[in-house]
Amino acid sequence: MGEPEPNSQIAEAARILAGAKRVVALTGAGVSAESGVPTFRDKDGLWDKYDVTTLATPEAFESDPAFVWKWYDWRRQMVKSVEPNPGHFALAEMERKAVARGATYTLVTQNIDNLHNIAGSKNVLELHGNIWKARLWGTGPDDVGVREFLECPLERIPPLDEHGRLLRPHIVWFGEMLPAAVIEAAHFAATRCDAMLVVGTANVVYPAAALPYMALRGGAAVIEINPGATELSSAATISIRANSGEALPGIAAGIGFE
Ligand code: APR
Repeated sequence: MGEPEPNSQIAEAARILAGAKRVVALTGAGVSAESGVPTFRDKDGLWDKYDVTTLATPEAFESDPAFVWKWYDWRRQMVKSVEPNPGHFALAEMERKAVARGATYTLVTQNIDNLHNIAGSKNVLELHGNIWKARLWGTGPDDVGVREFLECPLERIPPLDEHGRLLRPHIVWFGEMLPAAVIEAAHFAATRCDAMLVVGTANVVYPAAALPYMALRGGAAVIEINPGATELSSAATISIRANSGEALPGIAAGIGFE
């Protein structure tokens, strides 16, 4: 028996989500791929081209903050030049429909590109930070002093604050802790949800990758959308082989009214 037919899976996913009372959507880089933002681990992905140890660790920043900021300046200019795609908008539509029928809806993203916010999603948990925020080097993700930092392109590299102190991107690098309040809220939502959408993630980076298993242990239906199979696919309730920009609008359309 071959692969299930995506259209019937999309209808089934819409049926499950329309009946859900506590919905979580977990997203990764794949949801922004159709906007032109490269993913990390696909062919031609960022980690295919760039050495993660020289760009996305606190040690790399400590040894050469200008080099790291040059790379983030390039990524900020790229992210600024793109728009959310139908996948982002469909997730925001699903949130509105969930709220309209009295359900809760939490969007947990690993993405730092701010495209969910631009597409109109409201209840968003940014696990790995946001590319348009910065804080003082030497401070943690939960410390005060996280500020919006929209200068693009950067006028000075590395950027300094008004007292001449070094700024760092408010992003979670490898080996760093996630913002405590954000990961706690994500755990809370995942363990109590009755339906979870998992969109555009290889599901290999923890603690984010644990969230679908928390949902499954809680008895929730887990609906994966990814053109390729992932670590999670065999455990998921439904695993749809499709691009999110194509599948999500169909699911959103299949769920009741706003
Ligand atoms: N629609 C849906 N999924 C897609 C699409 C698409 N159009 N294009 C690619 N994908 C899938 C790929 O098949 C892959 O499984 O998106 C996934 C992207 O995986 P990664 O590049 O590993 O990105 P992600 O899972 O978000 O990475 C997690 O790792 O590098 C760190 O902090 C970074 O947040 C990131 C984390």
